[in-house]
Amino acid sequence: MTLSRLLDDAKTVLDDVIQLRRRIHRHPEIGLSVPRTQEAVLEALDGLGLQIRTGQRTTSVIARLTGASPGRTILLRGDMDALPMPEETGLPFASEVKGAMHACGHDGHTAMLVGAARLLARRRESLAGSVLFMFQPGEEGYHGARVMIEEGLLDGPDAPAAAFALHQTHRFVPGAIAVRPGPAMASGDTLSIVVRGKGGHASAPHDCLDPIPIACEIVQAFQTLVTRRVHVFDPAVVSVTKIEAGTTRNVIPDTANLLGTIRTVSEATRERVLEGVRRVAAGIAAAHGAEVDVDLIRGYPVTVNDVDFAGFVLDTARDLLGPENVHATSHPIMASEDFSYVLQRVPGSIANLSTRPSDGPAFPNHSTRMVMNESALAAGVAMHVAVALRFLAALAISPGR
Ligand code: NI
Repeated sequence: MTLSRLLDDAKTVLDDVIQLRRRIHRHPEIGLSVPRTQEAVLEALDGLGLQIRTGQRTTSVIARLTGASPGRTILLRGDMDALPMPEETGLPFASEVKGAMHACGHDGHTAMLVGAARLLARRRESLAGSVLFMFQPGEEGYHGARVMIEEGLLDGPDAPAAAFALHQTHRFVPGAIAVRPGPAMASGDTLSIVVRGKGGHASAPHDCLDPIPIACEIVQAFQTLVTRRVHVFDPAVVSVTKIEAGTTRNVIPDTANLLGTIRTVSEATRERVLEGVRRVAAGIAAAHGAEVDVDLIRGYPVTVNDVDFAGFVLDTARDLLGPENVHATSHPIMASEDFSYVLQRVPGSIANLSTRPSDGPAFPNHSTRMVMNESALAAGVAMHVAVALRFLAALAISPGR
């Protein structure tokens, strides 16, 4: 199949994609309930002949495009939610919701997926199998994908055989695609620790049990844990990001609180580090006669791209965009992503699409000044379409493979 035409096809829907993206951008919604965004998606999908289901515990949208002949199913994902932060881009379509911003590009992801649905619906007659469009709320820490899976997203006779998602980045020339085969993004767990000592007069620490030096020792020991007990090529990050204790200069407090994040790129190291953090904190507190509460809150799992499928995505991207616009990334990034839940169940891949502005500074995701290059969205639309068409055609051409 020649893919070069798909980019031209994508440009025919680019205006609509941009309009939808701006509509969503104006009204960012946070968490598992994004009703206005859901409404915008449902309106945009109307008339395409898709079977549509909406979520019960979230405002998700699941749309299925069934081709003219039987075949496999591929899932394509777009996330819908925004972040609780102000917007300072000064764009004419900037957020009209105080304290909420689409600073991670999910507005663009959703709009690209709608654009792909439109282009794929046009090709229904030549399609073998089906495409499942997953519009998910609650990617930013709310486990939206997990909720959708619990509601049956991946179940049934037409369960997806592969899954694909795009996330925008600012790291390459606009319109470029990057894929990391294997582990692509980290697990993201939270540590919350309370060191319990005994407060009193700061001039008489011997009458107290000062939790502050114990907390400091724990923070330091985590860095020893990471460098001495974790394989250097299967790395971990433990960052204590908040230390809270005390009220004034002459009072030793009863407790000290630590808050932080734990990142790994394999489930084995993840378990080793979680167990190690618990052991080190408990051991150091015990050595000083203090008590400690260690609360480890599990976030998203490691996002693991299937090596074969990621290779297929890279090949498809090279054919679509030219090899100079495609990067096989050499190492994972330590951010986390809840598409990981889908990839635990279905072989697939997430890819990055660069929406770096053509001129001016490129602010990263989660910056109040993050701006997307909207013309790059055409490459994303075409990429979704190309991956779906090729994946479904592969079986139609050589059945049983
Ligand atoms: Ni994101």
